[in-house]
Amino acid sequence: MARDRPYDLILFGATGFTGRLVAEYLVRHAGADLRWALAGRSQAKLEAVRRELAATDARAGALPIVLADAHDEAALTALARTTTAVCTTVGPYLAHGAALVAACVAAGTAYCDLTGEVPFVRQMIDRHHAAAVASGARIVHCCGFDSVPSDLGVWVLQRDLEAQRGRGAPSVTALFEIKGGASGGTVASMLGLVDAAARDREVRRLLLDPYALDPAGAPRGGDRDVRGPGYDRALGAFTAPFVMAAVNTRVVRRSHALLDYPWGDVWHYDERMGLPRSARGAAMAVGVTGALAGFVAATQLAPLRRALEARLPKPGEGPSAEARQRGRYRVRLHGTVDGVTRVATFADDLDPGYAGTAKLLGEAALALALDPPASGGGVLTPAVALAPVLVPRLRAAGVTIDVATLA
Ligand SMILES: NC(=O)c1ccc[n+]([C@@H]2O[C@H](COP(=O)([O-])OP(=O)(O)OC[C@H]3O[C@@H](n4cnc5c(N)ncnc54)[C@H](OP(=O)(O)O)[C@@H]3O)[C@@H](O)[C@H]2O)c1
Repeated sequence: MARDRPYDLILFGATGFTGRLVAEYLVRHAGADLRWALAGRSQAKLEAVRRELAATDARAGALPIVLADAHDEAALTALARTTTAVCTTVGPYLAHGAALVAACVAAGTAYCDLTGEVPFVRQMIDRHHAAAVASGARIVHCCGFDSVPSDLGVWVLQRDLEAQRGRGAPSVTALFEIKGGASGGTVASMLGLVDAAARDREVRRLLLDPYALDPAGAPRGGDRDVRGPGYDRALGAFTAPFVMAAVNTRVVRRSHALLDYPWGDVWHYDERMGLPRSARGAAMAVGVTGALAGFVAATQLAPLRRALEARLPKPGEGPSAEARQRGRYRVRLHGTVDGVTRVATFADDLDPGYAGTAKLLGEAALALALDPPASGGGVLTPAVALAPVLVPRLRAAGVTIDVATLA
C-alpha cells in the first residue's frame, strides 16, 4: 500500500481501559515498521500510558501523541488526514463517535472501532455509506468480540461449504461459550442504549429489528431473535439467548446483504449461548433466559438501576489481568448442505471482551493500515472489509479458526 501519509495508524482512546490493552497489543505485535501514534483528549494521560508502554518495550517511549477531543471537528479532520487508518476505542459511540467517522469518510481514511451500538452503526450507514463508497474510506464498525467471531465465523464456514459442496448453507447457527467480565465503558454503552431506547421509539424499533443494519429496501429473510431456552441437535447442547446476538446477527445479515445475498434471499442465521448437555445445562438454559430478562427490567426501574450501577465497573475500570488471562471463548457455527454438516470453530484462550478483543481489534487495525484493501469503500462489516486478510492474521496470532465435518 502507498504510505503517503505521516502515520499508518492512529489509536484514538488510548487512555481508556480497552484502548490501553489495544496499545499494549500493538507494542508487542505490530513490528518496528509500523508508523503509529497514540491519540486522545488528555496530553497528561497519554504521556502516562506511553510511560507504561515503554516498560514493555522501550521504543514505545518515542511514540508520537496526537491530541483531539471526540467533538472537535477541526482536530479530527487534521487527525484523519495524517494517517492511513484510525482505530478508535472512544465510547459510548452514540455519545462520542460520530464526528470521527465523518472526518475519516471525508479524508478517505480507513476506520475501525469496537462499537456494539446498533443505532450508532445505523446512523453512520445512513449518513455516510454513499460518501464512503465515493471517497474509498473503509468504515468498519464492530471489530471486537462483537462481531468479529460471528462475522468471520460465518464467512469461513460458508466459504468452506462453497468449496466442498458447491454452495453455502441456507441456515447457520452459532453457539457461544464464554468466560470473561465487563468494563465500565461497556456498561456505560449498554446503559446508554437502554436509556436511548426508553426515550426514543425509533431506537426501540431498531434494537428489535433483526435486519436493522441491512440496506434500505433489502429483502428480509424472516429471521427472529431467539428469546427462550432450547436444544441444539447438531452439537448436542442446551441453549439460551445470547446477549450479544442483538448486535452480531445484524452485522452478519449486513455482510450477507453487502455480498449480494450469495446464500439466498431467504437465509437464516441465529446465535445462542451453548450450555452442557446435562440436567445442569438444562437448568442453566432456563436460568440464563430469566437472568437476561431480569437484567433488562432492572435497568429500567430506578432503585434497581441505582443498585446495579453501584456494583458495576465505572469508566476506565474492567477485569483484572488475572481474570483476563483466565478467560476464554469458543464459538461453534454449523450449517448443512446435502446432508453434510460442517462446523466452524472460532476460539481463543483469552477473555472475549478485553484481551481477546484487543487482539481482534488490533489485528483489524493492522490489516486496515498495512494490508492491500480487500474491498472498496463504504460503511462495511468486518467480513466484507477484511475477511481475506484478517482470517490469516488472526490464525497467525493464535486464534483457532477451522472447519471440520460433524462426526
Ligand atoms: N465490542 C466489544 O467486544 C467491546 C469490548 C470492549 C469494549 N467495547 C466498547 O469500547 C468502548 C470503550 O470501552 P472502555 O471500557 O475501554 O471505556 P473507558 O475505559 O471508559 O474508555 C473510554 C475512552 O474514551 C475516551 N473519551 C471519552 N470521551 C472523550 C472525548 N470527548 N474525547 C476524546 N476521548 C474521549 C476516554 O478518554 P479519557 O481517558 O481522557 O477520559 C477513554 O480513552 C465502549 O463503547 C465499549 O462498549 C466493546
